[in-house]
Amino acid sequence: IALPTVSAAQDKYPERPITIVVPAAAGGPSDTVARLVADAMQADLGQQVLIENAGGAGGSLGTGRVAKAEADGYTLLLYHIGVATFGALYPTLPYNPGEDLASVGLVTEVPMTLVGRKDLAPSDVAALFTWLKGEGANATFGTAGVGAVSDLCGKLLVNATGIKMNVVPYKGTGPAMNDLLGGQIDLMCDQTTNTANQIKGGDIKPYAVTTRERISILPDTPTLAESGLKDFEISAWHAIWAPKGTPEPIRQKLAESLAKALKNPTVIERFAALGTEPVSSEMATPAALDEHFQSEIKRWSKLLAGSAKQ
Ligand code: MLT
Repeated sequence: IALPTVSAAQDKYPERPITIVVPAAAGGPSDTVARLVADAMQADLGQQVLIENAGGAGGSLGTGRVAKAEADGYTLLLYHIGVATFGALYPTLPYNPGEDLASVGLVTEVPMTLVGRKDLAPSDVAALFTWLKGEGANATFGTAGVGAVSDLCGKLLVNATGIKMNVVPYKGTGPAMNDLLGGQIDLMCDQTTNTANQIKGGDIKPYAVTTRERISILPDTPTLAESGLKDFEISAWHAIWAPKGTPEPIRQKLAESLAKALKNPTVIERFAALGTEPVSSEMATPAALDEHFQSEIKRWSKLLAGSAKQ
């Protein structure tokens, strides 16, 4: 007897709106990427693709919700490199990111920037580090919490310079940016998707980009490596995951829709204006994300050994 390989429900998928959980506040970098991709995917899938912001604990809470959600293709996760660090940073995490999530595909890789409030006195990175060691020793550094890439960048800066900073955690760097603009905090290391417009508008002070090379939308901003932190490099890759056990045909359909969304001219144009670009079609696949995610989990568990939040 020939058994059907695809059940009726999978065949008809999606029959109702899909929710993408973004485990960070609205208006921040993950939210921006997710909304652009969701708009393009919903046109392709013929169903609404809704964004649900569930920030807190660096994104580890909202990610856990997806890890434990029904594996039916109606609850997805869009987040970033942080998901590969949660295991190392949260020893009592009630789920295992590497095992409880099923890959859909990579989305983009976003450069980061070390930025300060507009009227911060130091004029360049060297002056900033000198200031932080003296007069600016109580400076505040806004992040989206432990596990967020803004926090990860801060940890790498502390490791590279030995300078301690007063970290102020938010539910996402959208609200942290509001406080930087308002002068309530001094510094952030955040993605260009959240900083490029404010830098171009002269509303915050750019100190450095965290990529190996300078980036085309901020040609006058030096790299941290140029500024004396040899080999300093971090950027935020983003991806979409489903809960483990999501049927293969559904995952495949989502991956195809993601790959199409990443070819959408509006998505390409909006990403470019924010300093990034979509990954290639070969990377917007479950297999490519599986490989990347597992190798990132290994890399960060070594780099973050001893950094666990108690
Ligand atoms: C982060 O710092 O990890 C992100 O910026 C979180 C966010 O999207 O707000």
